[in-house]
Amino acid sequence: MEYFLGIDVGTTGCKVVLIDEKGELRGKGVAEYPLYTPRPNWAEQNPEDWWQGTVQALKKVLEISGIDPRDVSGIGLTGQMHGSVFLNDRGEVLRPAILWCDQRTARECQEITERVGLERIMSINCNPVLPGFTAPKILWVKNNEPEVYRRISKVLLPKDYVRFRLSGEFATDVSDASGTSLFDVPKRQWSEELIRALDFSPSWFPPSFESPEVTGRIKREVAELLGMREDVLVVAGGGDNAAGAIGTGIVRPGLVSASIGTSGVVFAFSDEVRVDPKGRVHTFCHAVPGKWHVMGVMLSAGGSLRWFRDVLGLEEKNMAMLLEKDAYELLSEEAEKSAPGAEGLLFLPYLTGERTPHADPFARGVFFGLTLKHRKNDLVRAVMEGVTFGMRDSFEIIREMGIPIEEVRAIGGGAKSPLWRKIQAAVYQVPLFGVKVDEGPAFGAALLAAVGRGVFRNVEEACARAVAVTEKVLPDEHLMARYEHLYRIWRDLYPVLAPFYRRIAE
Ligand code: XUL
Repeated sequence: MEYFLGIDVGTTGCKVVLIDEKGELRGKGVAEYPLYTPRPNWAEQNPEDWWQGTVQALKKVLEISGIDPRDVSGIGLTGQMHGSVFLNDRGEVLRPAILWCDQRTARECQEITERVGLERIMSINCNPVLPGFTAPKILWVKNNEPEVYRRISKVLLPKDYVRFRLSGEFATDVSDASGTSLFDVPKRQWSEELIRALDFSPSWFPPSFESPEVTGRIKREVAELLGMREDVLVVAGGGDNAAGAIGTGIVRPGLVSASIGTSGVVFAFSDEVRVDPKGRVHTFCHAVPGKWHVMGVMLSAGGSLRWFRDVLGLEEKNMAMLLEKDAYELLSEEAEKSAPGAEGLLFLPYLTGERTPHADPFARGVFFGLTLKHRKNDLVRAVMEGVTFGMRDSFEIIREMGIPIEEVRAIGGGAKSPLWRKIQAAVYQVPLFGVKVDEGPAFGAALLAAVGRGVFRNVEEACARAVAVTEKVLPDEHLMARYEHLYRIWRDLYPVLAPFYRRIAE
């Protein structure tokens, strides 16, 4: 039996899954690492922590599964997108990596857009330059840390730094590279025009591959450290959303996934390049060779509920420990005691600014409609509903673009709560499914490794064999009508508040 590993270099930790050659899950391991916020709205991590976390999680999964590590044939990589790792010419890290959720680059985004022109950027990269993306981070370093900038020899995405440590190779894949603002998305290659327009050097960026392509083999010292063979191949892999979509089977038109993790992502498959002229959703290359995807990204989806749990859910946290349950499960049970619409309470989930559809680093969270009668259960429910309305914004745009939505697969922490699944089906107004293996991007990355090794003919075949849907939730007619009405009110709040967000930021 051959085995494959999928490594997900996430924001809160590294997750590794092990699958066998049939695509069955055989084990998983996680290791957490810190996230630093040296200033409000900044987010950084140490690439060394990613590497140490990866090694720890790899060791765990190999130990737990009890397999002979010499039977592992391939590794697939995935991870948080857009983060920038700056290396010098000796491959040493020059400063902490700046992450996808960091909002420091509003000025640089404007500078790039003025220099290149929005129309040109949209026609090459298919997306406006947004604060989370990579290019503005590089420019920020140029504007603020010129001594670091002068020594840059490579700029890598998070998973590609781990690849460098695993295999010694510099490489990336087309889905992750799409989120740099420097990639030609229709042509699936780096854009020399965009790179040169910003006076960056093309040599900083590693060669790009399609996701199941082999980029190298593990290094001897890594093989020794983990007890694996030296010929273990490493495939290009994908950004976490594209790889997650492989693990969820989003590989043909009509399929869409709705993931509520820290961020919230609505991900739709597309077999051609389709761009929202207003740039509200992203158009990136898919991890399926020659295909694309369109996605909307909310910055604080599950992150809003986590904030609620940490700030107002101490009671549930303690109770959860006593009952050996999850605090989120208790919060969801509380929300169930409130009514749909949370007694007139609406929540805007912009705790860390927003990306889709508003692209506004200044946006902030709001409870709207508070009265004396509101209890904690109404507040929790309003958070869950407000996040779901934020996801609905992406569905609206994707529908407007003419992309078919036949079936939605709900994944991530938000899919665990029966109540939240019911709310999602009613707010999106489509049948909602779960997936049998909800192990996120790491599972998709492992499947990509199996494709790279030739165990499956292609990505589509891997998904047909290894991905199965579970429980279907149909939208409840009554709930659907109620949420449609509330969504329209909710949607009108942001434009009214937008100028005030700026004023308070100033
Ligand atoms: C996608 C994005 C996030 C991160 C989270 O554009 O910024 O989904 O990839 O890991």
